Amino acid sequence: MNNLLYETDYGKYYIGKCEELIEKLELEGKVQLLITSPPYPLNKKKKYGNMVGEEYLEWLYSLAPLFSKVLKPNGSLVIEMGNSWEKDRPIQSILTIKSLLQFLENPEANLRLCQEFVCYNPARLPSPAQWVTIERIRAIDSFTHVWWMANSDYPKADNRKILRPYSKSMKKLLKNGEYNAGKRPSEHSISEKSFLTNNNGSIAHNVIEIEAIEEDKELRLPYSMLSISNTKSNDYFMRRCREEHVTPHPARMPLELASFFINFLTDENDLVLDPFGGSNTTGFCAERLKRKWITIEVKEDYGLQSLIRFEEKNINSNIKKTEYYNQLSKRGK
Ligand SMILES: C[S@@+](CC[C@H](N)C(=O)[O-])C[C@H]1O[C@@H](n2cnc3c(N)ncnc32)[C@H](O)[C@@H]1O
Repeated sequence: MNNLLYETDYGKYYIGKCEELIEKLELEGKVQLLITSPPYPLNKKKKYGNMVGEEYLEWLYSLAPLFSKVLKPNGSLVIEMGNSWEKDRPIQSILTIKSLLQFLENPEANLRLCQEFVCYNPARLPSPAQWVTIERIRAIDSFTHVWWMANSDYPKADNRKILRPYSKSMKKLLKNGEYNAGKRPSEHSISEKSFLTNNNGSIAHNVIEIEAIEEDKELRLPYSMLSISNTKSNDYFMRRCREEHVTPHPARMPLELASFFINFLTDENDLVLDPFGGSNTTGFCAERLKRKWITIEVKEDYGLQSLIRFEEKNINSNIKKTEYYNQLSKRGK
């Protein structure tokens, strides 16, 4: 297929509109996890032509049947979407929530909300700047909505694959083997042995915090993400983009988020699809976790820059660039 830009041991990156390519690639019923961060709804047009208002709502709504159709019967669909704000006003737009709701409720798809997650990024720059840093009348907008949907009530999922390291106090408790049993103010009754089984970590929360691990903190990333060192990979991509004078994709999905859901909702060799792939965060995380992947992206530049991710030494994948890639590079893309 001539839209193929490159291929790795586990995946393929295609250039084109996902509405068209998904059909051409004949993906119906094959995808274990579709995870993506669509272009965000905007209240004013940006130079790269994001849609606004009603037009956006209708467009996203129309994708629900297509996305639902590619899933395996026990597959999952995860959409990440940030908040948007009304133009020149210190009020939040409800477009994000409206578009997610309409998407979910499209009767031609068969989707339900398995769980809502919040992806909290404490390192996010203060925004919207006017209201946060200049007028000081709003708090920093520092999370995105993540909706996990599926065609069934029981998609494949295993929270034992996303265990968080125990906190210091829990480790102490396991070591000493004792704590105050009895009734809590919440009316919960804690038995003598409730907390004494070592399960190698605690169950993940539906707030995913994008930050390096600290044992003392209550919110901690799962082990599986730490072992593949997301922070280092992110630094690598940014540094190489700077060296190559490439402007990194402005709306990259956090590596931690993609890894979290890939671990949680798929097994090795399952197929992961990202139809709005950008710098290929999803494909990169899937490759490291030995899942097959397909990424689709409409902009050639983003496809080309995504190759930087696979230069990392520990990824160990054979990269095959296509003739289409050679043509684009020659055109100085
Ligand atoms: C929010 S970004 C995704 C960023 C990506 N998750 C990453 O980590 O780099 C959305 C992407 O969708 C692409 N896009 C917009 N419309 C598209 C379409 N119809 N088909 C495929 N890609 C599209 C945009 O060019 C943009 O790169």
